[in-house]
Amino acid sequence: MSSPLPKTVLVVGSGGREHALVKSLALSPVKPRILCAPGNAGIAQEAKCFPVMVDDVNGLVALADQERVDFVVVGPEVPLSLGLVDKLNKIRIPAYGPKADGARLEASKIFTKQILLKHHIPTAATGIFTEVTPALEYLRKRGAPIVIKADGLAAGKGVVVAQNLAEAEAAVHDMLAGNKFGKAGSQILIEDCLVGEETSLLVVVSGRDYVILPTSQDHKRIGDGDTGPNTGGMGTYSPAEVVTPALLARIEREIVKPSVDAIANEGIEFRGTLFIGIMLTPDGPSVLEYNTRFGDPETQVVLPRIGSDVLELLWKAARGELREYRLETKRDYAVCVVVAAKGYPEQYPKGDVIVFPDHLPSSTTIIHAGTAKNGAGQIVTNGGRVLGVTALGATLREAADSAYAACDAIKCDSKYFRRDIGARQFNRQ
Ligand code: AMP
Ligand code: GLY
Repeated sequence: MSSPLPKTVLVVGSGGREHALVKSLALSPVKPRILCAPGNAGIAQEAKCFPVMVDDVNGLVALADQERVDFVVVGPEVPLSLGLVDKLNKIRIPAYGPKADGARLEASKIFTKQILLKHHIPTAATGIFTEVTPALEYLRKRGAPIVIKADGLAAGKGVVVAQNLAEAEAAVHDMLAGNKFGKAGSQILIEDCLVGEETSLLVVVSGRDYVILPTSQDHKRIGDGDTGPNTGGMGTYSPAEVVTPALLARIEREIVKPSVDAIANEGIEFRGTLFIGIMLTPDGPSVLEYNTRFGDPETQVVLPRIGSDVLELLWKAARGELREYRLETKRDYAVCVVVAAKGYPEQYPKGDVIVFPDHLPSSTTIIHAGTAKNGAGQIVTNGGRVLGVTALGATLREAADSAYAACDAIKCDSKYFRRDIGARQFNRQ
């Protein structure tokens, strides 16, 4: 028995991921009424936005109740780990995203590591420490390169891949003695450094049932050729052909299914996205991390390649009705180029006016991430990652050319974007 699809949907979040979700949900044949909190200037053109912040869990529950929302789709990790879904379910509003127990898989790297080890899922060897002295002893025993990770949520900054022991020791001191990440860094993991190409897989999970979404690859560093500091993600493409059908089958067998089963066996009723970060090492795929939400900017290329009704997919997952579900995928390639504000991920200006091209081909979509409206009604920059210019094409090259044509046509004084999104795959073709 499947339940009727929801008529009013609230999307929680304000980034490119949420704009992509709003766009895909709006394509559902049921033509849902879509609300968003807090949203951004682009989302506001398509959905009614409410100024309730993502960490105001009680405010979000009250909003969903007042607006008679039938279904909530949660974008970011913070409200998930604060128990938004638990609270919504208490007042009988179904939501897509794990409850707080499932969100711990992202909020605590130690919790995840213990599950991975207990269930024999491939992952790097690790030591767990709360004190400086034993941590330093362990470091010296393992040698560099080595990876130091804060246990808790640190806005993507809690991982140091140290090339030498001095760097590793400094990271240990910063986290354990220097309180660099506060409570999030009061326990740390020291992991062997894995080498290989990185990929991630988005999996829609509903208890023991799951659907693997199209593959994608992010570009995490700020500069062309993967140089400079790490960012939240500067661009993506899909499919990621490094994950061949045979490799995907292996990843499903060795990682996806064991992960979904392990989570269920731990007593967690997980209904949401399991985002699995994977290193493709010479010895096989190995889990780097779990996130418990859609990736940003992975979502911007993955959702447009789904041929099925995304609202139905997420609804069925939230309702525990995913068994026998079959996903339809389009043949097209997708590319998303993130347009950032110059200076990101460090200091960058806000409030720069953005002028959009008058005409865009139908294959190209400008997704908003950090945008707002100024007093004069103009759209301005309001974050480090400002836009996600996304295009579909019959080939990866065609998709990239369309995305870059639109990036070039956007006018904004502080515009910065990488020129090589997808290049890794062109070089392989
Ligand atoms: P995480 O948040 O755990 O995925 O770590 C952030 C980034 O650090 C990953 O995307 C990798 O690029 C890198 N990283 C994490 N763990 C390792 C590891 N064991 N070996 C090499 N690189 C790693
Ligand atoms: N693009 C990486 C993330 O969403 O965590």
